[in-house]
Amino acid sequence: MRTETPKTIFLKDYKPTPYNIDNVRLTFRLHDTETLVRAEMKLKPNKASKAKKALLELDGEKIKLLSVAINGELLAPTEYVVSEHKLTIKTVPQKAFTLAIESQCDPKANTELSGLYMSNGVFCTQCEAEGFRRITYFYDRPDVLAKYHVRIEAPKAMPVLLSNGNPAGNGSISGTDRHFAEWDDPHPKPSYLFALVAGDLGSVHSDIITSEGRHVHLGIYVEKGKDNRCAWAMESLKASMRWDEKVFKRAYDLDVFNIVAVSDFNMGAMENKGLNIFNDKYILALPQTATDTDFELIEAIIAHEYFHNWTGNRITCRDWFQLCLKEGLTVFRDQEFTSDMRSRDVKRIDDVQDVRARQFPEDFGPLQHPPRPNAYIEINNFYTSTVYEKGAEVCRMIQTLIGAAAFAKGMQLYFKRHDGDAATVEDFVKCFEDASKKKLKQFFRWYEQAGTPQVAVSGKYDAKKKTYMLNLTQSVKRLKGQPAKLPLHMPLGLGLIGPDGRELHSGMIELTKAKQSFTFKNILAKPVLSLNRGFSAPIVLKHRATERDLLLQLAYDSDSFNRWEAGQELAKKLILERYHGKHGNQWPQKVAEFAEALRHPLTDTSLDEAYRAKLLDVPPYEELMAAIGKEIDPEKLYSAHEEFTAKLGEGLHDTLHEVYTSTESHAAYKPDAASSGKRALHYAALSLATRAQATWVEEALRQESQHATNMTAEYSALRISTRLRGALPEELSKRFFDAHNSDPLLIDKWFAAQALAPSESAADRVRTLMSHKDFTVKTPNRVYALLRNFIGGNFIGFHAPDGAGYKLAADVIIAIDAINPQVASRLATGFRTWRMFDAGNRKKAEAELQRILATKPLSPDVFEIISRTLKA
Ligand code: BES
Ligand code: ZN
Repeated sequence: MRTETPKTIFLKDYKPTPYNIDNVRLTFRLHDTETLVRAEMKLKPNKASKAKKALLELDGEKIKLLSVAINGELLAPTEYVVSEHKLTIKTVPQKAFTLAIESQCDPKANTELSGLYMSNGVFCTQCEAEGFRRITYFYDRPDVLAKYHVRIEAPKAMPVLLSNGNPAGNGSISGTDRHFAEWDDPHPKPSYLFALVAGDLGSVHSDIITSEGRHVHLGIYVEKGKDNRCAWAMESLKASMRWDEKVFKRAYDLDVFNIVAVSDFNMGAMENKGLNIFNDKYILALPQTATDTDFELIEAIIAHEYFHNWTGNRITCRDWFQLCLKEGLTVFRDQEFTSDMRSRDVKRIDDVQDVRARQFPEDFGPLQHPPRPNAYIEINNFYTSTVYEKGAEVCRMIQTLIGAAAFAKGMQLYFKRHDGDAATVEDFVKCFEDASKKKLKQFFRWYEQAGTPQVAVSGKYDAKKKTYMLNLTQSVKRLKGQPAKLPLHMPLGLGLIGPDGRELHSGMIELTKAKQSFTFKNILAKPVLSLNRGFSAPIVLKHRATERDLLLQLAYDSDSFNRWEAGQELAKKLILERYHGKHGNQWPQKVAEFAEALRHPLTDTSLDEAYRAKLLDVPPYEELMAAIGKEIDPEKLYSAHEEFTAKLGEGLHDTLHEVYTSTESHAAYKPDAASSGKRALHYAALSLATRAQATWVEEALRQESQHATNMTAEYSALRISTRLRGALPEELSKRFFDAHNSDPLLIDKWFAAQALAPSESAADRVRTLMSHKDFTVKTPNRVYALLRNFIGGNFIGFHAPDGAGYKLAADVIIAIDAINPQVASRLATGFRTWRMFDAGNRKKAEAELQRILATKPLSPDVFEIISRTLKA
């Protein structure tokens, strides 16, 4: 907890440690409240360090130091100093020496879920980013790579004892009811990849032979009784291993790969070497318990963590500023994996929606930072959408700029050159320069400059010369006190579409200057411009396309992303007209025309069903807010959005009914792309028809819920029903709860559905739910289900003009900060758009932000987020 203003860490201050730790032997004597840890380390002076005869300063917090010995000799208390965050040893040998440290920690009291903690009776660890220092004193930073040997001693009532690497023996401890297991990890790794698990767990096992001929044993461990829900996870793991062998030529490098699922976990999952630890919501799946979205997420997250074995573990980060080196790249890799496993076109739309809904608001607001930040207070606050999703977009742009072949070559060069290294973003980009012979100096600004570029577009057709001239101007908005932003190097996919829908030109241009013109010759008719195809650069286009042009794109654009985008643009235009009161009595007619234009692609069976479902998406609030920019009136925006959606549903009514019935399926549930795409379209149609309060939907929803044979049907019905008046929503909610109230992951869904149901008084409902017997602030999944969904997914509930949403959020952030600062700080980011609202909302939000900031004690995590949110 905070005693003084937290310290800021700067990239420019990076220095190697004065000593290296090459080897660690760890012994754990596990005990709920008094776990004993003995660490025997081999150290030597670090040649890369300029420091002479430096102190040995190791990180450590929330642990009790018992003893320190150097080369076998116990140190006297005068020979070292222990403070809240450090152990300092004044003099150490200036050649290789051993250091043995004994310390004690209390896993049961660990509510922050960082370090060694207990989840439902299971010992587990979470060390990224700085949790290892809660286990023992160490250089807890990613550029110190050591080989680990681990011995775990625990009661025999905990039969499963796991750590990183390969098994290296086990047995009873004579004269006790305890046993031990040893593990040996031959690959040097940073401390954040350490993991340990001990408990009475169920498991499933399989094996695989790698492309290099290695036999690998695969294990997935879960709470007892849940082992019948692991088949999909196992299948996904094998698919990931095969894909990485095929696409990136990366094979697995140990004899075992284990995954453990626990129910208390701050994040989604963690890539510890050979022992991934997962939030169980991203492992457990049966058709009756998990939705299509869950199945897809499980597949993607298992892949993501597995892919870290090369991008993150074999090649790690020099320091935490380089986080996007592993996260952005690994997200890029998992996106590619999902694209290959499912529909590439749909995956691209999903990813862009995610960037716009989460990364753009971050990049426009007070929490803005470049993918590689320059400074931080709490590194846990930088596992952001900018580091992850913008980081992935930057990798994708490199691929687009240098081409797929050179990109693949650059990746192989990266693996070859940096295997075993703690690398930097510069090292990474250099590989692509060398592989492609293309300069990426200006491109590198993407890593260092925050803010989303806006590109203003105007085009001019010369009918006589048959030329089309495109004029582009790029700029990045400056926040208070920021220096001028520099122009970026960006690839822009481009197409020119003729008036009959045929393509007159397609290709890619590279924008590098602040203002730049491009001329296209032999363009035989006045074209419609299709720019930034495939969302080739993560930017905002400012382009005054006419409704007619957008309708033409919606009908004919050969780029599936821009075809979808044209529909979104049109929808956005219509909602904003309504919001700004500029709609006039033409407006219903215009929405009807838009509906009419959607009808064709929606029923075009040559398009895949998941893509057709995407065409029914109504632009989310985040995008509308970005377009409005400031002084947003939440009630007005909410009703414009509602009215548009209802009108669209009315306009499409017959089609929706037809689509809904034609996508009905009685086949056994399968989670693959085609089957889930069909369900996506089925429920998208039902959902939009419900927004139009169609007469048939009530009965349809009741039937869906009563006769559901899978969770996709059940949860869809539950969620959609919240948009209906009358008694049905309550009926479905009760049925869902009664059927599933013994399953924590489904109780989460039940809370989520209520948190997301839009209403100006949603804060009251959520506050009441916080006293429900199944609500607890101790389990992150439960908190996220009810509160993150409310804050981030219930626009009118959270931004209700009476301030009740803000007050609830602040109450919860303050309460949870005392238990788990990481979770509190994630909730706190929900305030990042507060300045975009009108004076009434701003005043209420500011008061709550000030109240949080005045709370004592306050974690550095929440302090950093709230103080930045208030500043800019
Ligand atoms: N390395 C992270 C897990 C992590 C995040 C540890 C933050 C410590 C702090 C892991 O690889 C990861 O990125 N997990 C994501 C899911 C992923 C699919 C994007 C997560 O947990 O949200
Ligand atoms: Zn990751």
